[in-house]
Amino acid sequence: MFRAHEQVFTWRAERARLEPTVDHHRGSVRFSLIPLPGAAPLSAAFVTRCIEHARQQGGTEIVTPAVTARESAGIRDAGFRERAALHLLVHDLLDIPGRSGSGSALRAGHRRAASADDEIILQIDRAAFGPDWCLDSGGLQEAVNATPRVRIRMADDPVAGSLGFAITGRSGRRGYLQRLAVDPAAQRGGIGRSLVVDALRWNKRWRVARVVVNTQIGNHAAYELYRRLGFVDAPIGLYVLHLPLLEPLAQPDSDGPEATTRQL
Ligand SMILES: CC(C)(COP(=O)(O)OP(=O)(O)OC[C@H]1O[C@@H](n2cnc3c(N)ncnc32)[C@H](O)[C@@H]1OP(=O)(O)O)[C@@H](O)C(=O)NCCC(=O)NCCS
Repeated sequence: MFRAHEQVFTWRAERARLEPTVDHHRGSVRFSLIPLPGAAPLSAAFVTRCIEHARQQGGTEIVTPAVTARESAGIRDAGFRERAALHLLVHDLLDIPGRSGSGSALRAGHRRAASADDEIILQIDRAAFGPDWCLDSGGLQEAVNATPRVRIRMADDPVAGSLGFAITGRSGRRGYLQRLAVDPAAQRGGIGRSLVVDALRWNKRWRVARVVVNTQIGNHAAYELYRRLGFVDAPIGLYVLHLPLLEPLAQPDSDGPEATTRQL
């Protein structure tokens, strides 16, 4: 029986975390391959070792977080394919618009999320993103733990209950809008805007210099929302890559030294 735990693999200047998430309903074990900040871009040989490890642990799929073109080269060479292309947007926090937009019928108030809210967060997330892109509980924990400081806000309607949430993180002078979702039945009522403005203000209060967010190319609603609130496109593309593990391994071209992985 596979047990969830976290492992860091290193080889020379390459470092990555390989984190399993078990989905008991689907009977699947999805691994996240997360290149670590400050390390060298992962080579195909290194990634192949990570793939082998995930296979041995019963993994059914490996996915990456959003990675740049430079970070993705070795990962693609090891056989990963593109699952999504993303816009990266940046806000410099100089000018933060008001919480309610023109004509918004916002009734929902904000509050801090408690751990008892995890289930409702996952429900809203699933309703907003759909089954292919929604978070599972492991993904939610990843989003919450991705930065040293995090703010999780719920948007509640006095009658209908929780209708949206935002997870925002900060690390030093950089802020990250990690996750945002509004129940489809409540969209276009100003909730998304109010949650993003709250996230921007929180970052500004803590003297963050810029907040970044990424959104899938083609997600018109999110892109329009961010642009309207002052985010601008950053000139780099981001990609989410994945590899289903039920297929044979790709053989990397590298004939360099064997990657030795070390569990810390
Ligand atoms: C993106 C999302 C959070 C927006 O939430 P929302 O509460 O509907 O947004 P708001 O009502 O606050 O909209 C604010 C502005 O964003 C823009 N916008 C929002 N939805 C839009 C849509 N479907 N089409 C075009 N513009 C849209 C508009 O400029 C809107 O202002 P307006 O209503 O005055 O025209 C929501 O659509 C959602 O949960 N989508 C699925 C999950 C998702 O994509 N999350 C973000 C991932 S990065």
